[in-house]
Amino acid sequence: MQIISEPREMQRLCASWRCGRETIGFVPTMGALHAGHLELARRAKRENQRMITSIFVNPAQFGPREDLERYPQPFERDTQQLADLGCDAVFAPTKDTMYGAADFLHGTWVDVTPFDEMWEGVTRPGHLRGVATIVTKLFNICSPTRAYFGEKDFQQLRVVESLVRDLNFGVKIVPCETVREPDGLAMSSRNAYLSPEERKSATVIFRAMKAGKALAQSGETSVAKIGAAMDEVFAQEPALQQQYVTIVDAETLTPLRELDGQSARILVAAHLGKTRLIDNLAL
Ligand code: PAF
Repeated sequence: MQIISEPREMQRLCASWRCGRETIGFVPTMGALHAGHLELARRAKRENQRMITSIFVNPAQFGPREDLERYPQPFERDTQQLADLGCDAVFAPTKDTMYGAADFLHGTWVDVTPFDEMWEGVTRPGHLRGVATIVTKLFNICSPTRAYFGEKDFQQLRVVESLVRDLNFGVKIVPCETVREPDGLAMSSRNAYLSPEERKSATVIFRAMKAGKALAQSGETSVAKIGAAMDEVFAQEPALQQQYVTIVDAETLTPLRELDGQSARILVAAHLGKTRLIDNLAL
């Protein structure tokens, strides 16, 4: 497995594969790989002739008071796991090669409206712009045939699908189901921040979403009533501070008042101590 830090070198390698008519499956990551990432990598490996990943903790998608400095970076372990899965190349650039050594060297940003004006876009200003910009750059460097994204970051998935459509990228976005711990907690690199006590409390997110889904499946269509049922479960864990809990149209992410057969999604963002967790579930 090659580990490449120079964008031009990665671009050349990927272009040579595409010229040879090989398909490339791409899994963009920020490292600190967990079972969810590895599942994306396995699928990319199965469905393409080449499988590549990127490991880059993208500063542009972190706010000033967020966890950029403490974001885990077990690079050796990550690359070993990828090599074991048969990854062909890991693109691991530095901040300076991606954004220039001074802020003014990078003046081009990708904004995906209206998604950047809702949910994660509001609670983490600039985050989705950072994601959309780095994903655009990575697609240009890696020229993937298919790119694999976990549904755990549901709004990110919608942003990436939109930018691919709007900017005419020739890549197929493959959404992959969220991988969960046995107790339902969605796999996330940020789970490592949770104390044992917080880790136990975090399971309330999945329990609450499941309660909402069960009520919807029993025929309830009022979003207010489904929200109230979820709130009852959330109340069991006062340590969890909700940021937003909402039921939205799964395509547009606009809030719903009634379920009427459209595809709907519960979205949750919450804090447990200093850790921010997000999750979602299809209704
Ligand atoms: O989901 C992530 O890990 C990141 O947002 C991504 C897509 C790798 C962009 O930095």
